[in-house]
Amino acid sequence: MKIIPKSREAISGTGAVTPSLVKNVTELKKLPVRLKVQFDGSAVYVPENLMDKFVIRGGNPLLGTIRVSGAKNAALPAMAAAILTDETLVLENIPDVRDIQTERNLLVSMGAEVELGYGRAHHRTTISCRSLVNPEAAYELVKTMRASTLVLGPLVARMGRARVSLPGGCAIGARPIDLHIKGLEQLGATIRQEHGYIEASADRLRGGHIAFDKITVTGTEDLMMAAALAQGETLMENCAREPEVVDLAVLLNKMGAKIEGAGTSTIRIKGVSKLGGARHRIIPDRIEAGTFVIAAALTGGDLTITNCDPLHLNALLQKLEECGVTTTTTGDSIRVKNGHRLKAADMSTEEYPGFPTDMQAQYMALATQAEGTSIITENIFENRFMHAQELVRMGANIKVEGSRAIVRGHTPLSGAAVQCSDLRASASLVIAALVAEGETILDRVYHIDRGYERIEEKLRGANGQIRRIGEMLPKRTQVPAGVA
Ligand code: EPU
Repeated sequence: MKIIPKSREAISGTGAVTPSLVKNVTELKKLPVRLKVQFDGSAVYVPENLMDKFVIRGGNPLLGTIRVSGAKNAALPAMAAAILTDETLVLENIPDVRDIQTERNLLVSMGAEVELGYGRAHHRTTISCRSLVNPEAAYELVKTMRASTLVLGPLVARMGRARVSLPGGCAIGARPIDLHIKGLEQLGATIRQEHGYIEASADRLRGGHIAFDKITVTGTEDLMMAAALAQGETLMENCAREPEVVDLAVLLNKMGAKIEGAGTSTIRIKGVSKLGGARHRIIPDRIEAGTFVIAAALTGGDLTITNCDPLHLNALLQKLEECGVTTTTTGDSIRVKNGHRLKAADMSTEEYPGFPTDMQAQYMALATQAEGTSIITENIFENRFMHAQELVRMGANIKVEGSRAIVRGHTPLSGAAVQCSDLRASASLVIAALVAEGETILDRVYHIDRGYERIEEKLRGANGQIRRIGEMLPKRTQVPAGVA
């Protein structure tokens, strides 16, 4: 059978395609699609992962050991840093998650050579941006991953121009990139906005003074990369202090940059004319680690989370102590042993070293099982409570009032069909399902695949009852426009 879909989007966008409508099987197999058998026995091609669900049965305590992967939010800027040099960058401890594949596609679309190896290759990626031909981040990629905007600074710095789609709205809030743009202007770039794209150009960026109006993680990273190749010195104030920012500065310095102060709110950068290749190991994912810490506390388990940095999780561990959860740490592991009842404690998200917004949803799942009322305040994003309504469907008592969620516990949770809305919301629902009575079916798990490496396998290895299933599609499948 010969199949050629009319466009990649026709299949990788939203729908399924029946084999008879496709004209070139060899081409189709290069796309992220899978052949699925429907209830009536006929087969259709569907976008890989889009249709997967988790089936979770609650009640088991998490026991044993879980190993944490590399930090997605450190790996993404590190991969973007490869743009700054024509030499090879070797990054280790890269997590096997969908956002990393998206970033690889982005770099490849610009002309980079990217090898991404997992398993025996020790989660390593080797990137060469020797010949970059197309300094552009297209809407198709930026809309699926906002961190694509991290290429803006490096592209202008190395190539003198960049065309990056504006990200638009997002499930957790507006998330503009005005501070990235303002910062680049401070470094001498000319910015135009047209047709939904930012076009930035500069012969050579020059050092400047950037005082961020608001703390921004990827903004700090983007401009730190741009300033590394600028002429002269840059002073950046009110910078993000996240460990991921520090990890990027360590990598850039290995490449020959001159950056001081990363991890504090003031960063000084002496621009250099050229950066070289380097080898770097990405830090462990503190949010993945924290997710397992909460899961263990909630299920009353005895779990050791290894390959993590407990110092990056101080705010979470302190809050959990207030909730009555005992943890013991070594240099690179956290043991959570919890046989006690959980106590309610108020929590407000803050920039690092405060309580991370990326742990707010998971904390809310815990709060549903704590005795008393917890007030959770979200200070970073304006719309990050999408999980609350799904938790309510499982039996939680949560009232959202603006940026506050009032959680009254403890209410028993029962399994239900629920939907993931974003990455961390998904994690919260997985955690809640682990203590719910009966079975939870979690839909749209492609959100969780963006940032958690095989979470179901890790949890199953620690006594969790969770499995991934592909959706049985309805009998009549809609054919996407352009395929027939
Ligand atoms: N903001 C602006 N203008 C800007 C940039 C940010 O107003 O130009 C605002 C945002 O709207 C938000 C606040 O500043 O209200 C903080 O946003 P920030 O820029 O720090 O977020 P980010 O860099 O886009 C990173 C992480 C997020 C994490 C936030 C906050 C990466 C790739 N993403 O996003 O991670 O929630 O910092 O810590 O590092 C996740 O992993 O699930 C995730 C969303």
